[in-house]
Amino acid sequence: MDKFVITGGIPLHGSVVISGAKNAAVAIVAATILADEPCVLENVPEISDISISLRILYEMGASIKILGKNTIRIDTRGISDPVVPYDLARSMRASSYFLGTLLGRFHKADVPMPGGCDLGDRPIDQHLKAFNSLGAEHTIDGGIVSLRADSLIGSQIYFDINTVGGTINAIFAAVKAQGLTVIENAAKEPHIVDLANFLNSMGADIMGAGTDVIKIRGVNRLKGVTYAIIPDQIEAGTYMVAAAATHGDVWINNIIPKHLESITAKLRKVGATVEEYDECLHIYTSGPLVKTSLKTLPHPGFPTDMQPQFSTLLTTAEGTSVVTDDIFDNRFRYVSELRRMGADITVEGTTAVIQGVRKLKGATVRATDLRAGAALVIAGMMASGVTTVENIFHIERGYENIDDKLKGLGADIKRVSDYENARKIV
Ligand code: EPU
Repeated sequence: MDKFVITGGIPLHGSVVISGAKNAAVAIVAATILADEPCVLENVPEISDISISLRILYEMGASIKILGKNTIRIDTRGISDPVVPYDLARSMRASSYFLGTLLGRFHKADVPMPGGCDLGDRPIDQHLKAFNSLGAEHTIDGGIVSLRADSLIGSQIYFDINTVGGTINAIFAAVKAQGLTVIENAAKEPHIVDLANFLNSMGADIMGAGTDVIKIRGVNRLKGVTYAIIPDQIEAGTYMVAAAATHGDVWINNIIPKHLESITAKLRKVGATVEEYDECLHIYTSGPLVKTSLKTLPHPGFPTDMQPQFSTLLTTAEGTSVVTDDIFDNRFRYVSELRRMGADITVEGTTAVIQGVRKLKGATVRATDLRAGAALVIAGMMASGVTTVENIFHIERGYENIDDKLKGLGADIKRVSDYENARKIV
């Protein structure tokens, strides 16, 4: 397995271009199942979660053409059997989106329980509740979720908790259902708005995406379109934090500043300067970084997907910071890795207390999930000496060319494969 070897202590300088949003792209790629014609997707990030999504479509009978580095033509008309291959589905959380899209098109779906980052228990009860409200029945047998419906009829869906995946799956099942569906307590993340924009451009009738209440009037047909995916809020936030944490000076290009407001506000609080422009921002730090307190919340609050990176920055901020993240049960698994680098963090349940230290020290650490992996890369760049980050396949699920982008900003980061290590030993 590949590793990153990072020599830290170099402030990041220069500019970086942000790729298309992972969490929008995985939903939109799955949504092409609902299209009655081929679609061309632009600004699709080159990450392994997308390769897996495309592989799932291909194995089910879709035709996929790579038209350019980030442009893909997808024709799902060849899919006839709504069964998602087991191993592929198990490797990714977003495989649950095939439940909604296959149900919407075929009124049936057989999808293995989704995998993805291990952040604690990740049930899909709210997804199933939404499908049931629209008239589908479900069974779970041998780890396979099966959905069956004679017809899908628009309905009222009230989510007991704020769920991104549940909201997206409810939209999928409702866009071609008969009549009106009203989703209440809907999630409001930018990728939900992007998905609704994509489906509306195909002829769907979705109103209110980005608010608590989404209204969907079912349509019979969705045409093929060419659509560009929004920039990745979390990738942008990760480079912003990396810039501040290394006391650098970085321009972040191809972004939507509005999506970054909660991250920008917290970075200003800890002492970074952030200047916003139409589609880019400039971040730099001249003085010391100082403590702050942070609680993750659904959008427009501070995103849980930025918590590990921001907590890493706080390890060298002056004073004591308190970070609470209860969106998932267990999003502090990276803390023991940061402690190996000299961080002073104690975790009690879903709260971490971070006592700023002067400097982190390089060590060998292991990525436990996608955002934890990004956090450890940032830690490596902050630290003195050499840090080796293992299990970087987690990072490649969601960050396009992270090592090349960081090298472009002056970081000393090398990818080392086990094959190269073995050659050195021989
Ligand atoms: N939940 C339930 N029942 C459900 C669905 C969710 O109890 O039926 C709970 C979850 O266990 C969790 C909370 O509700 O405690 C929120 O989960 P949500 O459904 O919103 O998360 P998700 O759809 O599984 C997406 C992103 C995550 C991101 C979360 C929260 C994708 C593919 N994944 O997950 O992204 O952390 O929303 O914003 O969009 C990442 O990119 O690193 C990542 C983990």
